[in-house]
Amino acid sequence: MSAANNLFQENYSVSRKEREELNGHASFTIWLTGFSGSGKSTIAAALDQWFYKRQIRSYITDGDNTRIHLNRDLDFSREGRKENIRRVAEVAKLFNDAGVVVISSFISPFEKDRKSAKAIVGAKHFVEVYIATPLETCIQRDAKGLYEKARKGEIKDLTGINSPYEVPSNPDIVVDTTIDTIETSLQIITDWLLENKLQT
Ligand code: PPS
Repeated sequence: MSAANNLFQENYSVSRKEREELNGHASFTIWLTGFSGSGKSTIAAALDQWFYKRQIRSYITDGDNTRIHLNRDLDFSREGRKENIRRVAEVAKLFNDAGVVVISSFISPFEKDRKSAKAIVGAKHFVEVYIATPLETCIQRDAKGLYEKARKGEIKDLTGINSPYEVPSNPDIVVDTTIDTIETSLQIITDWLLENKLQT
């Protein structure tokens, strides 16, 4: 924001680098994208545990929890999703600035919104993980009963049914929970992180 709006960015004296040094690890955002039921939350929880056991400060933000509270005014329209992703990317940026690793678990079906999230967080701090579990598997699982509700016409704008999902064009990591177990998915992601983000 510019001074023209009577807003002035404050720059406080403890830097992100100093906070990272204090924590003993880098801070970055792992962005999980995929259909409802693809395994995002399960993988997010496994990652969070993995970090916790290694004394790496991490935190999960996800679609349900964020939409129940912070983003309760937003719907699943194109505009609602765009604003949802913008806000949660800004949240991830704040957490990263505080030295915390963020696991962002959102369907985030639109490439343009994911690119915006990456720009907000900062490209070098953003790891895009595509949970490529096919829609048919997600429909079979239907843990929340959302696909059944959409079939009965009780939900509009359900991703994959009556709202699109744009496959990521250049994700850093791809896992498919029909091929990779949760343990294997975790291994794939953490191997990548150890190689690219968590070097000591
Ligand atoms: S988005 O597209 O990124 O803005 O969606 P997100 O914030 O991740 O929210 C997804 C969760 O909201 C629940 N839910 C729906 N998802 C998609 N479409 C519709 N219409 C819908 N209605 C409710 C659902 O529990 C999603 O959580 P996940 O973990 O993906 O199953």
